[in-house]
Amino acid sequence: MCGIIGYTGNDNAKEILLDGLSALEYRGYDSAGMSLFKNNDIITVKTQGRVSELSKKASAQFSEKTFCGIGHTRWATHGKPSETNAHPHGTENVMIVHNGIIENYKELKNELGNVNFYSDTDTEVVAKIIDKEYRKTRDPIKSIINTHRLLKGSYALGIIFADIPDTVFALKKDSPLLIGTGKNGMFIASDISAFLKYTDRYIRLSDGDTAMITKECVCVFAADGNKKTISEERSVKNADVTGKGNFNHFMLKEIFDEPDAMRNTFGSLTKDFLPDFSATIPDDSFFEDIGTIHIVACGTALHAGLQGKYFIEKLAKIPVTTETAGEFRYSDPILRENDLAIIISQSGETADSLAALRMLNKKHIRTLSVVNTPGSTIAEESGKVVFTLAGQEIAVASTKAYNVQCEVMLFLALKTALVKKTLTSAEVKNILHSFSRVFTDSIPTILSNNTPFRKAAEILSGCKNAFFIGRGYDNYSGQEASLKLKEISYIHSEAYAAGELKHGTISLIEEGTPVISIATDKKFYEKMRSNIEEVKSRGAVVISVCCENAQIIKEISDCVITVPNGTFAENPFTTATAIQLLAYYTALEMNRDIDKPRNLAKSVTVE
Ligand code: M6R
Repeated sequence: MCGIIGYTGNDNAKEILLDGLSALEYRGYDSAGMSLFKNNDIITVKTQGRVSELSKKASAQFSEKTFCGIGHTRWATHGKPSETNAHPHGTENVMIVHNGIIENYKELKNELGNVNFYSDTDTEVVAKIIDKEYRKTRDPIKSIINTHRLLKGSYALGIIFADIPDTVFALKKDSPLLIGTGKNGMFIASDISAFLKYTDRYIRLSDGDTAMITKECVCVFAADGNKKTISEERSVKNADVTGKGNFNHFMLKEIFDEPDAMRNTFGSLTKDFLPDFSATIPDDSFFEDIGTIHIVACGTALHAGLQGKYFIEKLAKIPVTTETAGEFRYSDPILRENDLAIIISQSGETADSLAALRMLNKKHIRTLSVVNTPGSTIAEESGKVVFTLAGQEIAVASTKAYNVQCEVMLFLALKTALVKKTLTSAEVKNILHSFSRVFTDSIPTILSNNTPFRKAAEILSGCKNAFFIGRGYDNYSGQEASLKLKEISYIHSEAYAAGELKHGTISLIEEGTPVISIATDKKFYEKMRSNIEEVKSRGAVVISVCCENAQIIKEISDCVITVPNGTFAENPFTTATAIQLLAYYTALEMNRDIDKPRNLAKSVTVE
């Protein structure tokens, strides 16, 4: 949520900042800006809208080479998206970029007294406090540390002082911030992808750290002002993974990446068709004697958690709770010594999921994270971590990450079942053999023909509201389908367990209301048929996502999207690809900004 980049070095800072901002734009894209040193002055350019707009403005301002600056791409929290509210913010002495939220900014604003504010942001208040402290102390580090002592909330800051040219300062608390160390200069960024093109070496800041970065060196100070020893790490990420290839949108490319992502994850976490977590969890006792499993996540990752609940309860016979992290972190969950908590997160930086993890760590509950981003905070702070190998996901709508998260949840369920002896090795091998068909055959088959999705999209694109119904794991797939459709097409939709609709919501069904029925679990075909009849007799237009063998569903549906026949270890995965394509083609038909839907950001690092 919001992206920060800063640079000081021998190369062209303007180009590096613009490059970094483009790589970070998936984190927020309602406005962008940058401040650069130019002839002993700081010059700032900002724009409402995209980095491409900023680039045009910056070209006019900075025709000569510049060597140091900070940049930002914004996802608005305080104050609407506008040029005035865009970062950097500051005074003639200091400019800052900020990710996160300053919870006590109103009090601090009042305490500043007779100071004029031009924006509605919490960030401007911080800039003015640093300015005040700097005028008092004439010491940049002291002024930042003094400011840090006053702030409540989460923040990563990039700071430059007008009279300290070619030096970038940084402060971090509860919001990601890394320092990149390159041969030709140094960087700060909220995400390594912003500087990976230039260097794969980085320094991780801890909460409360202040850093001073020149083109030759980095100094880090703890909150008490003492200098810290720093250690460099090397990224395992590949810089060149962000292209769209021949696809018009990242979302479509990422859906097409699914067979490879699932194959890679399968390769890393299974051996001879048995789950194998030995690389990160060498001791099987980790899976023994588990009381309750608590799955905590947000959005799509939470829906992967629901599929995980289904797998674990069915196969390992362990009770599972699933809770959105934003509620879990403030709740008073019943946690017992032998419980296990699983945090699922693509980015590994989601603020609520991270806070839930920290709360669990404090209570000494066993934690295991399922994360797609190596080096992310959740990965670093979890008791154990299992990586999904989806590769970087750029589109805001999560697609391939969901399928590999569900895959890992299946493997965890199978592993626990083996250790608990609720399944034999032969049974587990059977399940994994049928699962592997998903990425070798079934998903490639679905991807090979977009006609059914385009037909269904024509129906949906004319509508304002839609409903999803399903039973068992198909109900959980419906939750994810509904989120995907809302997120990128802006069609309002709700997902219901099919038997629940008649307890109130069916009053909303009228002539022409689309109802998408998900019916891949054979044991529910007849029940689903009855539920489809109920909505059809009230005027609904029914689009069914079902297996090829679901004849009784197909014959009463107005539009059919089939997925290959499969078991419980296949259907949630093939359905996921199908509902993602349905959302994609609907949004395409409606001419939406698919990769960067309004109001959203890829990584939600504020509460
Ligand atoms: O990075 P995370 O997996 O923790 O993100 C959680 C949600 O913010 C994310 O899944 C969100 O719901 C997606 N945009 C949905 O497509």
